[in-house]
Amino acid sequence: MAQGGGTEQKKEQQPEVNHFDGVKRGLSVKLLLLTIIFIMIAEILIFVPSMANFRNTWLRTHLDNAEAASIVYLDIANERLSDDAAMKLLETAQANTIAFRLEGRSQLLATSGTLTEIVEHIDLANATPFSSITSAMGMLYMPSDAQYRVFDATRSIGGEIELVQEMKYIQAALWKYARNILFLSLLISVFAAALVYLALYRLIVLPIIRISSNMDAFSKEPENAALIYQPSGRGDEIGVAESRLTFLQTDLRKTLKQKQHLADLGLAVAKINHDLRNILASAQLFSDRLTSLPDPTVQRFAPKLIRTIDRAVDYTKSVIDYGKAVEAPPERRNLLLRSVAEDVREALGLDQGSEIRWQANIDDMLEINGDPEQVFRVLMNLCRNAHQAMRDMHDEDREHLLCVSAEQSDEGTAIRVKDTGPGIPEHIQPKLFNAFQASTKAGGTGLGMTIAAELVRAHGGTIDIEKTDADGTIFKIFMPHNGAE
Ligand SMILES: Nc1ncnc2c1ncn2[C@@H]1O[C@H](COP(=O)(O)OP(=O)(O)OP(=O)(O)O)[C@@H](O)[C@H]1O
Ligand SMILES: [Mg+2]
Repeated sequence: MAQGGGTEQKKEQQPEVNHFDGVKRGLSVKLLLLTIIFIMIAEILIFVPSMANFRNTWLRTHLDNAEAASIVYLDIANERLSDDAAMKLLETAQANTIAFRLEGRSQLLATSGTLTEIVEHIDLANATPFSSITSAMGMLYMPSDAQYRVFDATRSIGGEIELVQEMKYIQAALWKYARNILFLSLLISVFAAALVYLALYRLIVLPIIRISSNMDAFSKEPENAALIYQPSGRGDEIGVAESRLTFLQTDLRKTLKQKQHLADLGLAVAKINHDLRNILASAQLFSDRLTSLPDPTVQRFAPKLIRTIDRAVDYTKSVIDYGKAVEAPPERRNLLLRSVAEDVREALGLDQGSEIRWQANIDDMLEINGDPEQVFRVLMNLCRNAHQAMRDMHDEDREHLLCVSAEQSDEGTAIRVKDTGPGIPEHIQPKLFNAFQASTKAGGTGLGMTIAAELVRAHGGTIDIEKTDADGTIFKIFMPHNGAE
């Protein structure tokens, strides 16, 4: 018994997996961490030069303080300082030594007498950005009792002022500054990261979650039109992805509907086919009995009747093959094309008295290599279409002619089926060979040309409309010698 596919096919079970739970958190957290890291990198790029700047300003301020205090003391003490005043001056400038170089002469103003090795000489007037950076970074890790010498032009009295200082003061100031900057950077990073994160979450992550959940729901129930994604109308890349998704889902749903329709049709055909075979079996039985009747007319028609019924039984079997969407491969042999055409004429009931004149311009001995049954079906479909087209015209003035002709060449045989019908409507010509799409007749299924084309292709041949207009149609089939797909 034939069985169609369709509604009885079991739906594939889809595993219940939530694809998005892990991912949604993953992307948000990644975004947050990346934003913090990038802002920290930017802060470090700012931090290094700002440390150098801080060091230069700190040193310059101490030189200025020392210069200002020195002027005061120098004025009062008239160039000679008491020990007490010198100590106070050194304390103010956080220095061990204060000296001036005026008009080429060095003048030691105050010194604590603590003489250790000077580890660095800093010429503030000629400090480059690079030397300031390396020096500032180096100072952080120097021993705190090491001494350095710093000098620069004075602000007011001309010449240069010079200090010898212990590392600990500037070191403490630099560390404090670094800690403040670090804290501030962290604060800015977290704040900026939170803002960036929120913006990205709303702009990207949320829509992605929405799209993903919709895909998940739609994949479980693709027939449900309510689950087709509603684009938000955004004009950016996410908006484009949304409209593509909607288009894809609409298209997929249409295809699924078509497939379901075909599956249902397959099932219906299989059921009809099943019962038809039983009826044909009875017809076979009755017609077998007819052959035993002596009536000459019965004797003439009975074998034809039996052959026609046998053919119908074969068709019902081939429906099972069509249900599998594949025709059986052709069983080839050399056959006389003229006798196949004659079978077609008989099957169409065309004879001398018919409205439609039949003509077969085929050499009696012309042979083609093919499956007799399949070649018959190809010609039958073409001739039946031509026959129906001319019959439906109801034009008595026109001569209705159905002509099958064949020409052989070195490559193969060209078979033409010509009619004087109304021509194939233009709008169905591009889809003429697509199943179920081209029929214009009530009761037509739109399968005839599809079947014909499929069978011709199985023989390695081609089928084309050679001409079609208001005067009629010519189909050309080309069957190569020994052609095979
Ligand atoms: N010789 C022809 N002249 C005019 N129209 C034709 C001709 N051959 C085919 N057609 C048009 O092409 C359509 C498709 O033909 P096809 O044989 O595929 O399907 P059908 O004849 O409608 O149905 P069935 O599946 O029963 O054959 C026909 O409905 C008809 O409109
Ligand atoms: Mg047809």
